[in-house]
Amino acid sequence: MSARKGVNHSKDHIIPFLAGLAVLAFLLYGCGGVTIAPEIPSQLDPRGPAAADINALWWILFGLGTAVFVMVTAVLLYVVYSRWRLEQQPAERAPDLRRVSGTGWIVWGGVVIPFVILMVVVFFATRSLAFHMNPPAPSPLTIEVIGQMWWWEVRYPEFEFVTANEIHIPVGQPVEVRLTSRDVIHSFWIPQLQGKQDMTPGRIDSIWLQADEAGVYRGLCAEFCGLQHSKMHFIVVAEPADQFDDWLEQQRQPAPSPDNELARRGQQLFLESSCIYCHTIRGTDAIGDVGPDLTHLISRRTLGAGILDNTPGNLAGWIVDPQHFKPGNLMPPTNLDSDDLQALLTYLDTLE
Ligand code: CUA
Repeated sequence: MSARKGVNHSKDHIIPFLAGLAVLAFLLYGCGGVTIAPEIPSQLDPRGPAAADINALWWILFGLGTAVFVMVTAVLLYVVYSRWRLEQQPAERAPDLRRVSGTGWIVWGGVVIPFVILMVVVFFATRSLAFHMNPPAPSPLTIEVIGQMWWWEVRYPEFEFVTANEIHIPVGQPVEVRLTSRDVIHSFWIPQLQGKQDMTPGRIDSIWLQADEAGVYRGLCAEFCGLQHSKMHFIVVAEPADQFDDWLEQQRQPAPSPDNELARRGQQLFLESSCIYCHTIRGTDAIGDVGPDLTHLISRRTLGAGILDNTPGNLAGWIVDPQHFKPGNLMPPTNLDSDDLQALLTYLDTLE
């Protein structure tokens, strides 16, 4: 009698169990269609060898996980079904469950098969780790990136210039990137090119980047680092060697002197205001290092660490009220009348 009670009890669980399966199926279905932000590309669309390796590992793990899920679900459904069949038989004809041994299930299902699956995972994961340790070819270039709340300082030490939020690399070659942070832990991630790497204050970690196709790749911070973590983006521009060399040559130049009256007035405003405490414009007296280097501001595609297109309108809005776009960032609002703002924008527009 007590055995039958137990059977009825498990039957009561079938509906919640099936409901749970339905919810899980719905959630998994949702995974395919959810986009966090339209501009963040998928790591399942790799454009370089490191990301391709991570993509392959992802599919192996997904395949194994799916196979295990299907197997466990099949066994579970089989058990539920056989208990239900058992319940249909008259009590006196039911087999004595105390004589049924479960040892085979435990040895195979609980030890042997999981061990084999875990060894396969260890093999592929270790192979992937080894692949990511060193670039496939010697790296001809080293870039330093320093994470800060909430933007990216980008240094090209061999070429003695500093830029921000935009990294240029030659296409088809590995580039070494040395990463650190000035404040809290950030994480450097370009989904289509490489896995995540933490940027830790007081520590330098190296990764390599390689893009196999010329293009613009979006990167983002992948470690919660404060209020504007989700607006800490950057871009990587992979370009053919000659274009990359032109870019290097242009970035090495100091800012040109303004060649008209309005721009000259704008420069004077810049140099006489608090801007210079935080920003550098090479070739002038502005040598602040709290905020992004502005020497070639206009050559960059975005403002505010990848959150705004670099247009005159957005630049004006940012200067007047940066807290509107990115509350909590270190840049205070600038009080300028419209003539002064126009002069300042005219000057900044010369920083190509
Ligand atoms: Cu920096 Cu999150």
